[in-house]
Amino acid sequence: MKTLIRGGTVVTAVDHYRGDVLIDGERIAQVGTDLSWIQVDKSIDASGKYVIPGGVDVHTHLDMPFGGTTSADDFQSGTIAAAFGGTTTIVDFAVQDRGGTLRQAWETWMGKAEGKAAIDYGFHMVMRESTEALRKEMGELVKEGVTSFKLFMAYPGVLYLDDASIFRILQRSGELGATICMHAENGPVIDVIAEQAFAQGNTAPKYHAITRPARLEAEATNRAIALAEVAGVPVYIVHLSAAEALEEVAAARHRGIPAFAETCPQYLFLSYENYEEPGFDGAKYVMSPPLRAKEKQESLWRGLRLNDLQVVSTDHCPFCMKEQKELGKGDFRKIPNGAPGIETRMSLLHDGGVVAGRISLHRWVELASTAPAKIFGLFPRKGTIAPGSDADLVVFDPKAEAVLSAKTHHMKVDYNPYEGRRVRGVSDTVLSRGEVVVEKGKFVGKPGRGQYLRRATR
Ligand code: URP
Ligand code: ZN
Ligand code: ZN
Repeated sequence: MKTLIRGGTVVTAVDHYRGDVLIDGERIAQVGTDLSWIQVDKSIDASGKYVIPGGVDVHTHLDMPFGGTTSADDFQSGTIAAAFGGTTTIVDFAVQDRGGTLRQAWETWMGKAEGKAAIDYGFHMVMRESTEALRKEMGELVKEGVTSFKLFMAYPGVLYLDDASIFRILQRSGELGATICMHAENGPVIDVIAEQAFAQGNTAPKYHAITRPARLEAEATNRAIALAEVAGVPVYIVHLSAAEALEEVAAARHRGIPAFAETCPQYLFLSYENYEEPGFDGAKYVMSPPLRAKEKQESLWRGLRLNDLQVVSTDHCPFCMKEQKELGKGDFRKIPNGAPGIETRMSLLHDGGVVAGRISLHRWVELASTAPAKIFGLFPRKGTIAPGSDADLVVFDPKAEAVLSAKTHHMKVDYNPYEGRRVRGVSDTVLSRGEVVVEKGKFVGKPGRGQYLRRATR
């Protein structure tokens, strides 16, 4: 099956030009200024539109038990929503059970995705313990293509690991060429502050943010980088929200330390004020780390421009207001942490980044697709438009507008954090490994067609 995407503006992390993209089977066969002479089975007119590599979202939580419930999107609804938004690859988090092995967790998450995922997927592994046996087993997981591990400095008693445990895993990651993703917040101190706030009768959602000060994200970020530096390995800080934490990453990078970090759209477009919305609505934005002061957002944009932040992922972890977020009515500590965003990332970043003049077109593609593919061992199969790469392509209409809303989104969650926001730039036609999966506003792929991605080490 040969498909030609004709007459669009091909945009990658490094260049853009008016061009045609020829797909043969699942791969890109040729890119050229005029390939219209080639006989094809299907032709897609991209005139007036961009042709970009499919988005790579390296931080999602589908079908994940958390906070006494399970994230609302499974691998079917979540990956279909991703495709609608122009994302064609995700890297989700498998979670090791206490006392369980890493393989058990990987197999559990492979089972969750199988038969359901509509786009390609890989896994990071969350390690909740740091025994010798588990550290040895990390090598087995790397052979299966799980080449990154997430560790938590937050959530004591649930996911938290102490510094010594973290340090040993960092050392092991160095032997394996694996990447450590760090949730950098000082969990034990946050728990003290949260307990004190609750004891004083402060139960509303906004106290989730008030009890997680930016300084404690910065402190943990500093410590994570210091531990990685002493262990002699790179570290990747996930969902960075505080400008103070970004200063730590930037300072380390300035010293030549391989510290990397991602931020997420919620930290670029939402802010502390959202927690002050009436009634229990602030719960929509309960996530960790929390939303920060609006005036700090420009620091994150600067970080994205200067490459102190390399990736924009979503941390998509949706919980419905009804019956899920509601678990924390009367106690902000019981509100399941997380928010939806797998579908809205590419358009938000285009609108608030490229259209608003904060980042270039190339930087947009780099942050949302190329850099995450490179950092997490998927490049050049994913993240670019080149002969031999998977034909994961998005025909993106930069002039089309959409209004983000729970009434129209495809995520299985009863609210949209950006409700009513108008965005310029919409994914029009989406191809995954050469197959059209979204066309004319409809999902036309098949759940279960997504393939597991074995990722490379550093
Ligand atoms: O609030 C969040 N971020 N929920 C998902 C779990 C995590 O820490 O990434
Ligand atoms: Zn986290
Ligand atoms: Zn997360």
